[in-house]
Amino acid sequence: ATRRPLVAANWKMGGSQQLAQELFEKLSRLHDGLSEVVVCPPSVYLDSVQRMLSGYGQELTQKLVSLGAQNLSHQEFGAYTGEISGAMLKEFGCSYVIIGHSERRRMYGETSDMVAEKFAMAQKMGLTPILCVGESLAAREANRTFEVLTGELDAVVDKVGIMAFDNAVLAYEPLWAIGTGKSATPEQAQEVHAFLRQRLTGLSPCVGEKLRILYGGSVKSSNAADLFNQPDVDGGLVGGASLNASEFTTLCRIA
Ligand code: G3H
Repeated sequence: ATRRPLVAANWKMGGSQQLAQELFEKLSRLHDGLSEVVVCPPSVYLDSVQRMLSGYGQELTQKLVSLGAQNLSHQEFGAYTGEISGAMLKEFGCSYVIIGHSERRRMYGETSDMVAEKFAMAQKMGLTPILCVGESLAAREANRTFEVLTGELDAVVDKVGIMAFDNAVLAYEPLWAIGTGKSATPEQAQEVHAFLRQRLTGLSPCVGEKLRILYGGSVKSSNAADLFNQPDVDGGLVGGASLNASEFTTLCRIA
């Protein structure tokens, strides 16, 4: 299957309106074939970033640049102080939403059940989930990598069914590689991506073959080509390096 590469910028709690401006300016000036690009700013910026994006019109939409959120509520509406619903994200122009990032699992107590509910809610609201899975260093050293990944993936597959992955993106983010400067090697990434794909292909060959699996964890312009060239690596989920417009634009060209 031919899978169009995707590069997603996860600004986490960083970035600014100025960064969006600089980034869109650079992306609009690119004329060679570009991967698909998703920018996920903090939610307070979604509205203004969407306006900037629309301002470029076809220049950027034809290049498949779109907007994503970093999180959504697993509830639809109501008394949930501080939460943001999928419908709101949709209303403000999001196409994608990151689900189950390890920072949310570890620091904000998101369980696999909650992650599965969020995945389902995202799709119900017409958003494409970018589901993150990844093992800790301790798990890797104990040879439990595949067990941990299987657990995180199956929690979602069991709830939503394999066909729901027809409209989703998966991201492999080993915890030990996130923000550490120490990315997985291309071989390590490929091994896990192939494993994840096989698991899904076993349930539905066409869904597994079509699904884009992104690698995340210290991706930068110096290591991106080797990572993105792996047969089962379909792009990246980029944190730190997405906060620099030139660096991120370079990544988009590499993918
Ligand atoms: O969502 C992005 C990942 O957590 C990777 O972050 O590129 O700063 O290592 P990083």
